Amino acid sequence: MAGTVSVPPAELRELFDREVAAASTIDDARRLKVDWLGRSHGRITGLLAALRDVPKEEKAALGAQINALKKHVEERLAALEKEAVERAAAAAEAERAVDVTLPPRELPVGRLHPITIVRRRIESAFRSLGYEVFDGPEVETDWYNFESLNFPPDHPARDSFDTFFVEDGGIGKGRLLLRTHTSPVQMRTMETIEPPIRIIVPGRVYRKDDIDPRHSPVFHQVEGLAVDEGITFSDLRGTLAAFATGFFGGRAEVRFAPTYFPFVEPGVDVAVSCVFCAKKGCRIFSGSGWIEILGAGMVHPNVFAAAGIDAERYTGFAFGMGIDRIAMLVHGIPDLRLLFENDVRFLDRSWA
Ligand code: DAH
Repeated sequence: MAGTVSVPPAELRELFDREVAAASTIDDARRLKVDWLGRSHGRITGLLAALRDVPKEEKAALGAQINALKKHVEERLAALEKEAVERAAAAAEAERAVDVTLPPRELPVGRLHPITIVRRRIESAFRSLGYEVFDGPEVETDWYNFESLNFPPDHPARDSFDTFFVEDGGIGKGRLLLRTHTSPVQMRTMETIEPPIRIIVPGRVYRKDDIDPRHSPVFHQVEGLAVDEGITFSDLRGTLAAFATGFFGGRAEVRFAPTYFPFVEPGVDVAVSCVFCAKKGCRIFSGSGWIEILGAGMVHPNVFAAAGIDAERYTGFAFGMGIDRIAMLVHGIPDLRLLFENDVRFLDRSWA
């Protein structure tokens, strides 16, 4: 029965080419595949089925045309599908891609506290002179904080430390208190290790001071102790001068003024020449050109006796300095309270 193949293959091919030209997605490709090659209703499948009814003499030629069309459709659809898959992958990739030309988002960066910066610098200045960094308890006994350091129970020098006592009732050597200075660690160290001793002890200390721009009930000190045979006052002087130069840079000088601390004899207040104005006098060290940053002296024989160290054989020097004051000077911090208020904006400034 002629004419069953209602649309000739050449026209179908044109129709197919138009549909393919308009298609672009994976879905389009799949839909066209069903429309043209689907087993039940595909156009080409229909053509091949209709071939059965075509007169014998036309069958071969028409069959060849249909097969050629089928091949064309298969190839074009395979190509379309491949392109569509690649396009989809490229689009997904573009969505994920990082634009490396964008400026970075700024993250908040933490900074070291000025006290930590200064403590570490003091530690490294003394480490380079051969000192080790030691530690001791903040809750101390009367013995370590006072008595063993040559403050007998009624000694007037105790009054210079307004002490926080931990227990109201306690009395005598075992009475607990918050250490008022880092000096008790001198005693604890001399009890534990044999000379030669060269240590520094950074730490927190407590005094019943009212809070104001220069005072806080908690503050920080660094203690130092050197004990060996033949140590003299010149060693104390040389060590502190070397520290001052190492820490403040430039050519810092040290100046000694006699003073009294029960645990040293002689005792001295040590001032360092201002590295900012070379002693000319500037606003930083209250105009004098010098800052007093240290107490120091030669270890008192009574202290050696309390520690069980032979004062005939050994001599030594000790020193103590306030970290907070140095931090304020070096970093130009106008009020001590800023150091303790935990306001993050304070840490935001670059004090380093
Ligand atoms: N402990 C003293 C204070 O807090 C400071 C001090 C002075 C420490 C002289 C020492 C020293 O080791 O020898 O005021």
